[in-house]
Amino acid sequence: MNYYLAPMMGYTDCYFRSLVENIYGNSVTTFSEMIVDKAIIHNETKTITKHFLKNNKSAIQIAGSDPEEIKRAINILNKVDIIKHVNFNLGCPSSRVQENMLGLALTQKYDLVKKCLCELIKYNKDVSVKCRLGLGMNEDKSYIFDYLKLFNEIGIKKVFIHCRNGVLNLDTKKNRTIPKINYNLFLECCDQFSEMELIPNGEVNDLETFKFFQSKKYYSIYDR
Ligand SMILES: Cc1cc2nc3c(=O)[nH]c(=O)nc-3n(C[C@H](O)[C@H](O)[C@H](O)COP(=O)(O)O)c2cc1C
Repeated sequence: MNYYLAPMMGYTDCYFRSLVENIYGNSVTTFSEMIVDKAIIHNETKTITKHFLKNNKSAIQIAGSDPEEIKRAINILNKVDIIKHVNFNLGCPSSRVQENMLGLALTQKYDLVKKCLCELIKYNKDVSVKCRLGLGMNEDKSYIFDYLKLFNEIGIKKVFIHCRNGVLNLDTKKNRTIPKINYNLFLECCDQFSEMELIPNGEVNDLETFKFFQSKKYYSIYDR
């Protein structure tokens, strides 16, 4: 069984991740905080050493919205030995991220997401995506189904799903409480895309919820 520790800006820094990795060993994969591709392009060494200790086994989480820049960042990451997994953020709703058309905001542009992911998959080790179940307050299954279809077709089989919608122009804290958790839709996604590895995240705060996902044979729980 694999476990994943959700990335949290300001918390899951390289020291905290190192502690988690030392305690839990290979059974837990940790993620860096979200790093904008520009930081990797313009300040490679400083960015990598800020977010990774020599013994960190974490995946790096990146964000970007310009395929050309993602290409450049991936070219760099392909040469960084300690990093073995790149996760692409399509779920962050923060206003600064939104202003730069990154994270959740980027998902308004399906074709651009596709172009970005076509560069992302040129990474030569593991690739995954993190996304929300929907955009805006209303349930719209076609959002997540269309995106999962796209990820699958492009060859990205591992997707971390924050099991609630994301809402633009709503602060990040409210974005973790106002759009309601929707595990049923997550389970529907698992049925529809059984060939993919979908990992649930969001409000897995107690043993009961954890065991619920275990009983459904979802081998990975992605949460705090
Ligand atoms: C302080 C904080 C920082 C976060 N930073 C990131 C981040 O950098 N990248 C990311 O994908 N998610 C980030 N998240 C979202 C979490 O990874 C997770 O998806 C979210 O908190 C849902 O889980 P919860 O309902 O248990 O809070 C952050 C969450 C918090 C609370």
